[in-house]
Amino acid sequence: MIFASSLWPAIGPFHILLLHLPIGVFSAIALIESLAFISEKARKAREALPILYVFGAATAVLSVITGLSLMGDKHSDDMLLHRNLGIVTAVIACVAALLVWKNVARAVQLGVLGLLLAAMGATGHIGGGMSHGEDFLTEKLPEPLKSWLQPAEQPPVQAPPHIDTAPLSPVAAGASKPVFQTLILPIFEKSCTECHGAQKVKGKLRLDSYAAAMKGGEAGSTFVARDLEKSLAWESMNLSLDDEDVMPPKKSKCPRPDEKDLARIKWWIENGLPDQQDLSGFSAVP
Ligand code: HEC
Repeated sequence: MIFASSLWPAIGPFHILLLHLPIGVFSAIALIESLAFISEKARKAREALPILYVFGAATAVLSVITGLSLMGDKHSDDMLLHRNLGIVTAVIACVAALLVWKNVARAVQLGVLGLLLAAMGATGHIGGGMSHGEDFLTEKLPEPLKSWLQPAEQPPVQAPPHIDTAPLSPVAAGASKPVFQTLILPIFEKSCTECHGAQKVKGKLRLDSYAAAMKGGEAGSTFVARDLEKSLAWESMNLSLDDEDVMPPKKSKCPRPDEKDLARIKWWIENGLPDQQDLSGFSAVP
């Protein structure tokens, strides 16, 4: 029992390795099936398909199992979707393997293969986005190509769900109000985490937790305690709207921090970037 329970988390990391096997195998199958229309050699290679399918299905199932282990109990929406699509992919892969093994009509095999590739593509897309950030592939492309491939930069983003930043001033007696979570995080969630969060990590910067904000982004010194001028994030929020470095970017539909938000962030930096300390311990909180 003890062995089994320590083994379960240990297999999780293998997900990252295993998941590439079904992708490779089913891509190879798709290649053979496409070439079979025009090449005699590829038609002969179809004899290997049953074995390839079984291997692909088996590794897809193993990817799901190790993925469930890796997931632990963190469940973002993306992760749940990735998990469900992964399970669907593995099920289709098993069905496909069975059909090919039974040598059903080729049209049926091709239909199921199409379905399988679509499900696998969707699973991989979300999974890749989760681990590398959504623009991992396109980030380094030259600008014209990039905006063609990824118009997502200025999507008609809906405003994030309303987050209440209001009730602060008379600190409720006894209730604990850690500074970062109560005062600062809601501002980031309103104006920044759309692009600096789990989904997108622009400028290698995340602002969805205290640790991430302190770690900073590509350029470093995102927040420097008691130094507004050195705090890049403060500067970027206070640039004029036409400045190309202004945050949130001009094109973005994210609500800009209002005056009260800015006052709070200023206060936060000037007070040394407190995290867990209780708000009630501070005077003159904006
Ligand atoms: C619509 C997307 C979007 C929103 C919303 C947004 N940013 Fe950015 N941010 C970017 C992009 C894109 C970059 C990268 C710019 C570059 O690489 O030149 C960036 C880079 C940055 C950087 C520089 C990171 C580094 O170290 O290089 C900081 C600081 C920053 N943003 C702060 C903020 C803050 C604070 C907010 C909220 C008030 C915010 N951003 C909201 C898109 C956004």
